Amino acid sequence: MQAAKHEHWTSSFTFLLAAVGSAVGLGNIWRFPYIVAENGGGAFVLIYLVIVVIFGIPLLMSELMIGRSAQKPPLSAIQSFGTTRAHKLWQALGWSYLLVPLGILTFYSVVAGWTLDYAVNTAIGSFNNLQDGESAKIFHTLLASPGEQIFWMTVSIGITVAIVARGLKSGLEKSVEILMPALFVILIVLVLYASFTGDFMRSLRFMFEPDFSKITPKLVLLAAGQAFFSLSLGSGAIMVYGSYLTKDISIPKMAVGVAIADTFVALLAGFAIFPIVFSFGVENASGPGLVFVTLPIVFNDMGWIGQIFGVLFFLLLAFAAITSTISLLEPMVAELSERGKFKRARAALYTGAAFWVVGIFVAMSSNILKDVHPLGFIGRFHGMNIEQVIEFFSANVFMVLNGMLVAIFIGWSIKRSLTLEEMGMGGSVVFKIWFLLVRFLVPIGVLFIFLDGIFNISG
Ligand code: PHE
Repeated sequence: MQAAKHEHWTSSFTFLLAAVGSAVGLGNIWRFPYIVAENGGGAFVLIYLVIVVIFGIPLLMSELMIGRSAQKPPLSAIQSFGTTRAHKLWQALGWSYLLVPLGILTFYSVVAGWTLDYAVNTAIGSFNNLQDGESAKIFHTLLASPGEQIFWMTVSIGITVAIVARGLKSGLEKSVEILMPALFVILIVLVLYASFTGDFMRSLRFMFEPDFSKITPKLVLLAAGQAFFSLSLGSGAIMVYGSYLTKDISIPKMAVGVAIADTFVALLAGFAIFPIVFSFGVENASGPGLVFVTLPIVFNDMGWIGQIFGVLFFLLLAFAAITSTISLLEPMVAELSERGKFKRARAALYTGAAFWVVGIFVAMSSNILKDVHPLGFIGRFHGMNIEQVIEFFSANVFMVLNGMLVAIFIGWSIKRSLTLEEMGMGGSVVFKIWFLLVRFLVPIGVLFIFLDGIFNISG
């Protein structure tokens, strides 16, 4: 089997569409608003912004740099930096980068499936004339149904495989060129609608008036974990997309662009949701049910126009999710096809199929298998179902560990001359600040997120 040759993005703009597509996802539109609501609004938003600047941007630059410099997918990229004994150890990091995105894909594609299910059901009017408590019941019926979840999860993985199988130009680029502009248009329409009909001023105060007394170590760590996930860090997605960049493109500029767009979308998602939620008086609208339980009630109260906006909203979520799942499948597919193991289309099909099987177990974690606690004999894992264990290891442990180690790798292991050259800013002040952050602050800061993820030190 001949190894597939390494391709490049058509332009820096297509890269941005794809990388922002990876970053913008369920994390921004589903999770960000509800954890803002659960954690004191403005205080959380403020800390989140600070973390994106201090940790997020430097790490985005680091991952883009490794991919671009090696011109290879994550595992091969990390392996290519040397063959000494120390580098053999670093290979473990490469493997972790290869596997983490697939772990995330298993539960992410189940939730992506919910969004498709909701888009279709809103469109055909299943949420019309909701009685009290019915919205929550519909959501719980979905969670209780293995068949419905497996069906929609299969659709979401199927779409992902079909896109990734077509390759960089006719798969990834084509899809983000359609989905990302559509996503922005829908989001803007929703924000405009919400701010005209809902309580915009209250949302503004809620999101931007920090109550400093709410800032606790726990909030800081939560914001850090959210920023990490939202920026697709530690998962191979950014690294593999970086590997398709040509040498003339500025890494710092791309990193800043991705961070700004991702954060902007998260904030806009808040402005699409909070004004209408506030003005419809659904006060305790927080938790994972904010989008899947509360919003259908609000849309229902708005009549036929609500139905239209409801369909748009769930399509928005679905598009955001698909542009993220393709970046979760891509690292392994690129690795397999560029090593000449399989043709790209087969690599996509086999990898997709293998993790679809794991996805089935995830979809059954909230129903048939809800009492299966894989690591229940260990205190920390007591009561965690299959989905929670997979999510814990991929998103709380290895994803964060990757971020910490990659900073150490760049800051302490690879040649400084190479780093200087890739960043293309000479020894400027910006370079020096970045390098100091990557050497000291980022590894130490991320270590805390990691320890908290495992031992729950902040309580
Ligand atoms: N950043 C995506 C989101 O916010 C999730 C994701 C994580 C995608 C890691 C790719 C890699 O939903």
